[in-house]
Amino acid sequence: MNDPSPVFSDHLEASLARAFDILASAASDRRAAMHTPSVATIGLDGSPRSRTVVLRHFDRIGRSLRFHTDIRSEKHKELQRDPRLSALFYDVGEKLQIRLNGHATLHVSDPIADEAWSSSQAMSRHCYATEPAPGSSIVAGGDFTLPKGRELTDAGRPHFCAVQMHFSRLEWLWLGSDGHRRALFDWRDSTSAPEMRWLVP
Ligand SMILES: Cc1cc2nc3c(=O)[nH]c(=O)nc-3n(C[C@H](O)[C@H](O)[C@H](O)COP(=O)(O)O)c2cc1C
Repeated sequence: MNDPSPVFSDHLEASLARAFDILASAASDRRAAMHTPSVATIGLDGSPRSRTVVLRHFDRIGRSLRFHTDIRSEKHKELQRDPRLSALFYDVGEKLQIRLNGHATLHVSDPIADEAWSSSQAMSRHCYATEPAPGSSIVAGGDFTLPKGRELTDAGRPHFCAVQMHFSRLEWLWLGSDGHRRALFDWRDSTSAPEMRWLVP
C-alpha cells in the first residue's frame, strides 16, 4: 500500500513551508542532499554556466541564501557583470526538486564577509590561498600550491567572497507516487506574501 499523501501534497502554503524547512536544515547538515546545490550564472559569453557549491546559510525571512567563492573565479566575474542566478536543489529521499531564481550581492570586505570568513573552518579557508588563481592553466595537475598544515590561516582572506542570493521565485516539484505536484511561488510584486499557484508537473 502506498504511504498516505503528506499534508503538503495539496496545500500550497504547506509546500512552501516544507521547502523552507528543508533548505534551512540543509544549510547546517553536511549530509543533507540539498547541502550542495547547483548554481547557474550567465557566462561572460552569454552561455549558461552551472556548478556545485556548498549551501552555507538559508534565511527564510530575508528570502536569501549564502555560498562562498573565490573572487578570482569565473562565477565571481560573471556575477559582477550580471547578478542574476538560479539555484537548483534535489533531494532523492524527499523526492523533491526546488528551483530558485534571484539576484546575487557580492561581499568581499564588509561585515557579512568578515562574519562568513570567521565562521569558516581551516579546511575551507585554505582553498582561498591557492596559487595560481582557480581556473588557471597549469602544465601538470599538481602545479599549484596551498598553505601547509591544518592550522587556521588568513592568507586567502583577500580572495574570499560571500555570495548572498536573494530570491524572488521558488518552483517546487514533488514526485508523489499517486501523482506529482508542481507549484510556483513568486514574490516579484510583493515583499511579503508570494503569488502562488499550481502548475502541471
Ligand atoms: C561538492 C562540491 C562543493 C563545492 N563547493 C563550492 C563552493 O562552495 N564554492 C565554490 O566556489 N566552488 C565550489 N565547488 C567547485 C565548483 O563546483 C567549481 O568547480 C569551481 O568553483 C569553479 O567554478 P567557476 O569556474 O564556474 O567559477 C564545489 C564543488 C563540489 C564538487
